Amino acid sequence: MIFPTCLGTALALGILLLSHLQPCLAVTIYYVNGQTPLNAATTTSAGAAYTGLSAYDPTTLQAPAPPGPSVVPTSFALQLTNAVPNGASITQNGSFFGFSIEMSVVNQVLGKNASVLQVPFLNLMANLQSRGGQVHIRVGGNTQETAVLVPNTPDGRILEKDYSGITNPTQTPPLIYTPELLYMLSNISSLVNIKWHLGIPFFNTTPFNLAIAEQGQQILGGKLIGLQAANEPDLYAAHFHRNMTYGPFDYFGEFAILIDTVNADSDIPIKNLLIGPSVSTTWTPEEVWNTGFIDAYSANLAFLSVERYPTDNCGAKFPNSGIAVVNASDVFPGFLVHDSALNLVSSYINSCQIAQQKGKPLLMFETNTASCGGFPGLSDAFGAALWGIDYAMQMAAVGFSGALFHVGGQSVSYNPFTPPPTNQSTYNQWTVGPIYYSALVVTEALGATNTSRVMDLLANGNNTYTPSYGIWENGNLARVLLINFVSDSTGASDISVDLGLSDAQDPAC
Ligand SMILES: *[C@@H]1O[C@H](CO)[C@@H](O)[C@H](O)[C@H]1NC(C)=O
Ligand SMILES: *[C@@H]1O[C@H](CO)[C@@H](O)[C@H](O)[C@H]1NC(C)=O
Ligand SMILES: *[C@@H]1O[C@H](CO)[C@@H](O)[C@H](O)[C@H]1NC(C)=O
Ligand SMILES: *[C@@H]1O[C@H](CO)[C@@H](O)[C@H](O)[C@H]1NC(C)=O
Ligand SMILES: *[C@@H]1O[C@H](CO)[C@@H](O)[C@H](O)[C@H]1NC(C)=O
Ligand SMILES: *[C@@H]1O[C@H](CO)[C@@H](O)[C@H](O)[C@H]1NC(C)=O
Ligand SMILES: *[C@@H]1O[C@H](CO)[C@@H](O)[C@H](O)[C@H]1NC(C)=O
Ligand SMILES: *[C@@H]1O[C@H](CO)[C@@H](O)[C@H](O)[C@H]1NC(C)=O
Repeated sequence: MIFPTCLGTALALGILLLSHLQPCLAVTIYYVNGQTPLNAATTTSAGAAYTGLSAYDPTTLQAPAPPGPSVVPTSFALQLTNAVPNGASITQNGSFFGFSIEMSVVNQVLGKNASVLQVPFLNLMANLQSRGGQVHIRVGGNTQETAVLVPNTPDGRILEKDYSGITNPTQTPPLIYTPELLYMLSNISSLVNIKWHLGIPFFNTTPFNLAIAEQGQQILGGKLIGLQAANEPDLYAAHFHRNMTYGPFDYFGEFAILIDTVNADSDIPIKNLLIGPSVSTTWTPEEVWNTGFIDAYSANLAFLSVERYPTDNCGAKFPNSGIAVVNASDVFPGFLVHDSALNLVSSYINSCQIAQQKGKPLLMFETNTASCGGFPGLSDAFGAALWGIDYAMQMAAVGFSGALFHVGGQSVSYNPFTPPPTNQSTYNQWTVGPIYYSALVVTEALGATNTSRVMDLLANGNNTYTPSYGIWENGNLARVLLINFVSDSTGASDISVDLGLSDAQDPAC
């Protein structure tokens, strides 16, 4: 296997660049407005101890034992064609792998305000831009639903939480925020090529508060590509935001009222940025499609969306909730097989086809290893990076058009990147998590041409430990991505792959 030097040899996977090896791309170091950037300190603290925040939890789980060569043959051949085979995906953009940043933490992750930006964040995004051309980020989540835009806050910050108004099982406090938050996004986009999705608060429909759409379009212009209408509406009844009979047709009806309100609002010049239905698993997407949602609202819909976490850590996070505690050691092996990705996408294959027929891109709008913060030792382990790569590539292969991996605060384990706690920000650095490495690898695999077509190669006899993908770009085989899920420091489980081209022609160089 050839490992592009940019990716480092520690990753147990290879991206084979068939025509050329990608040179390492220079990373711009951002200094904003001539200031000393946040987190630019070069000194390290004398042993800053783990303070109980999940994002820095040192828990390590035991990797599953190597299954051995009788289960995972270590040598296999892959016969490929330069021409795009039948069964390859729709074309994918370099922005496929993006992020969903919980609205309540943007003042930690993105910056303090429009003039003091988080420089490490800019550099992390620049790494992706250099591979994929563009990065798509959603700012939202549960906290978007009750967020209120105000001219200014009492202490001058761009965002404040009201802890007295907690309403969800995820204990989401209501937010107030200022237009400065949107200027901050705009200023970020003037430095790195990020496009944004925002969310319209949907708990209160009488009337809808469209301030984020009005100000968002005015301040962000073409940098705003989507406006989510309801975050997991299928959980509204269970979380007491609607009555218990609330179903897909009620959502359908509210969406119509939203569209009427948007269409009547001259401060929202672009009417077709809406995103829905963003259902979790309480309703199937089909239950929403069956209301006629896509045809009825096609003129206003930019993207279709779903949200999904494979499991949850709610039982441990909220001990008195009655929710069963999931044991991370027990579920970890289930992440380290291709079956995880296959199972996760299986319930969306029909929706991908429906979306394609209707000419709408379908997004996995929020995902990660486990909801309620993920699992210490699993969500922040190297295995999660492999899992994220396989899952994202599988989504690309079956016809999703993008996947946004969630970023929470310091109390979660699954963050792709986490700033240090505010009071340590002058001497501690950022923590880069495994899902960021998934983003780097997937973005490098897809490239920046927006022409990539992906296929699961069913490699090694469709072995669940060694998934592999072909990537065809501009109609030609461009790269092969190989994953080995087996953790084995002896080297006995290393794989050796014999790649062949049945319609081979020597490259003209
Ligand atoms: C931005 O944040 C910095 C650091 O907290 C502060 O010094 C500055 O006054 C803020 N700027 C504005 C316009 O609020
Ligand atoms: C950042 O945003 C502020 C508005 O808060 C604006 O005055 C400033 O010019 C912006 N800076 C850049 C580099 O766009
Ligand atoms: C439940 O809410 C729906 C609208 O979402 C409404 O049509 C219905 O009358 C409500 N039912 C009850 C029992 O309040
Ligand atoms: C989880 O299960 C493992 C065995 O699979 C056990 O050793 C461990 O104590 C369990 N952890 C908890 C928190 O129950
Ligand atoms: C992909 O890029 C094309 C332009 O090349 C754009 O029209 C399309 O909306 C993008 N798709 C997504 C899902 O962002
Ligand atoms: C930082 O803040 C946390 C939470 O408010 C507090 O527990 C901790 O003692 C503070 N640490 C320092 C070094 O001030
Ligand atoms: C890829 O698509 C984005 C929009 O999603 C566009 O801005 C960019 O120019 C496209 N890149 C190429 C090489 O066409
Ligand atoms: C590949 O293996 C998975 C089980 O790991 C199975 O569900 C799937 O049907 C297989 N695919 C093919 C095409 O054989």
